[in-house]
Amino acid sequence: MVDLSTQYLGMTLKNPVIAGSSGFTSSVEGIQELEKNGAAAVVLKSIFEEEIAFEYNDILKEASGAGVNLDQFDYYDFHIKGEKLNRYTALIEESKKAVSIPVIASINCVYSHEWTSFAKRLQTAGADALELNMFFLPTDLGRTSEEKEKAYFQIIEKIQKEVTIPIALKISYYFSNLGSMIQKLSETGIAGLVLFNRFYSPDFDIDKMEVISSNVLSSPSDLSISLRWIAIMAKRVSCDLAASTGVHDGVALIKQLLAGADAVQVASTLYLNGTSRIAEMLKTLEEWMGKRGYGSLADFKGTMSQARSSNPAAYERVQFMKHFAGLS
Ligand SMILES: Cc1cc2nc3c(=O)[nH]c(=O)nc-3n(C[C@H](O)[C@H](O)[C@H](O)COP(=O)(O)O)c2cc1C
Repeated sequence: MVDLSTQYLGMTLKNPVIAGSSGFTSSVEGIQELEKNGAAAVVLKSIFEEEIAFEYNDILKEASGAGVNLDQFDYYDFHIKGEKLNRYTALIEESKKAVSIPVIASINCVYSHEWTSFAKRLQTAGADALELNMFFLPTDLGRTSEEKEKAYFQIIEKIQKEVTIPIALKISYYFSNLGSMIQKLSETGIAGLVLFNRFYSPDFDIDKMEVISSNVLSSPSDLSISLRWIAIMAKRVSCDLAASTGVHDGVALIKQLLAGADAVQVASTLYLNGTSRIAEMLKTLEEWMGKRGYGSLADFKGTMSQARSSNPAAYERVQFMKHFAGLS
């Protein structure tokens, strides 16, 4: 028997596969199914500031159509936010009763700092850890990257004052100096970094002349960006690392562990291959470890990170050069 356990965010997980934030983690039933199929932890579907804003706008439209006095806006604001939060805290409480794996709450920090005060309620509801899904698309051309990056540190500092549970930060790779940013974020006292989130991206329907959503789900080839950066940053950060995006099977899981990930998060593969894919991934990992005589993840984790590589330049190569010369 091989030992698949891993340490992540100060918790011992029974294996390195976490069900990432998605529709599967938005209900107790979904979370139970993930546990049954071997998930070592779940990250709940994020609570979204935008989502509340949409709900709020709809109700306001209805209210003003019905001749409701605008003075009541504050009431609606308070009421809707309260309702949404109550549903979220109930999901945490009920999931904690229904499963024995860690339940990680997730907050989507898009615009404001308002969310920091809600974090405490998620901790009180029983969340084992908190993942901050943080991303500001750098479209404000008048602000420098330094100004934009400051917002990440300010939010971390504010949330750290609110909760004592471990905090993980899920980021994108849109930073002008990505490696340095990852390192600095890891030194803020957060317990983990999730590399990387995948975002809604626009596409065009050229018949209807409309903006539509492009591929929502990742494909296995999307693994390469997180694989490269996990490999480059492993051993150079002061917190745990979870790999996210493009982990679709057991081979991808093994690659991320070799790169130095402490855990992986999966979402798209659950939609494409079903939740039983987690059990299949764990079987592949177990068999591979058995074949190579590894007894635990520590026997091989990070052995292909850049820091331990005999060919560190391979991780930094960005131009194709001769490999694809025949493809012109
Ligand atoms: C349908 C769907 C819903 C998602 N919802 C969230 C979310 O609420 N919060 C979040 O941080 N990530 C969310 N994600 C992103 C995933 O957690 C994950 O980071 C991303 O899909 C990349 O991993 P993958 O290649 O395994 O899908 C969602 C992904 C999908 C496909």
